[in-house]
Amino acid sequence: MKGVILAGGLGTRLRPLTLVTNKHLLPIFDRPMIYYPIQCLLNAGITEIIIVTGGEHAGDFLKLLKNGKQLGIHHLEYAYQEGEGGIAEALKLAEDFADGGKVCVILGDNIIERNIRKAAGDFFTQSSGAKIMLKEVPDPERFGVARLDGDKVVEIIEKPDDPSTNLAVTGIYFYDNDVFEICQTLEPSGRGELEITDVNNAYLKRGDLTCEVVEGWWTDAGTFESLHRASGFVAEGGANLID
Ligand code: G1P
Repeated sequence: MKGVILAGGLGTRLRPLTLVTNKHLLPIFDRPMIYYPIQCLLNAGITEIIIVTGGEHAGDFLKLLKNGKQLGIHHLEYAYQEGEGGIAEALKLAEDFADGGKVCVILGDNIIERNIRKAAGDFFTQSSGAKIMLKEVPDPERFGVARLDGDKVVEIIEKPDDPSTNLAVTGIYFYDNDVFEICQTLEPSGRGELEITDVNNAYLKRGDLTCEVVEGWWTDAGTFESLHRASGFVAEGGANLID
């Protein structure tokens, strides 16, 4: 299985920091943000990675990561997203890279304490469909929110005003290759983007969506508050712990 890191966007919520570099290169404690999703994939045994980015600071990724060998990446590719079409629009650019196979997709500002090795192994043996990773949060209205019946997802709503649960859909997803066909069918949402929640709902409708809960802490880092929180979590106990 190959890995896709989505690291585009203008990072408007982090201005003025993002006027001079890409959001995903800002520091989280002692490392650039992008190191964390890379390590998350490597810990799951995923060593072929594409980074989808965009904007005027895209070249900074190459300066930092080069061919990725120093981080243990076996094969690193980059794709350049024009415009601000959303997460599912960015994902389309990974189709050739995926080469007909399954992918693990991770948003470049998502950081976890532990690892996704079990989920990756479970998805490897899942014959088709998708798997999403969930986490209980105090502020679900900021995220995609899932409602479960037992261990089955029955509803996902993007940033609901009145969330029915506190289970956020994290930015870590596993997809079979149908994801690229699904992305082609999406219509822009109210915020003018192709939403990853619509992709997940397409799998839900097919009855081919599984979920697991992320172990340990999880945070995004796209606002000043969450950026600060992420640095604090990492400083206290580290991230991407293997055991
Ligand atoms: C995106 C997704 C949302 C998900 C979140 C995780 O939100 O749209 O469903 O819960 O990432 O970080 P955004 O960062 O675009 O607001």
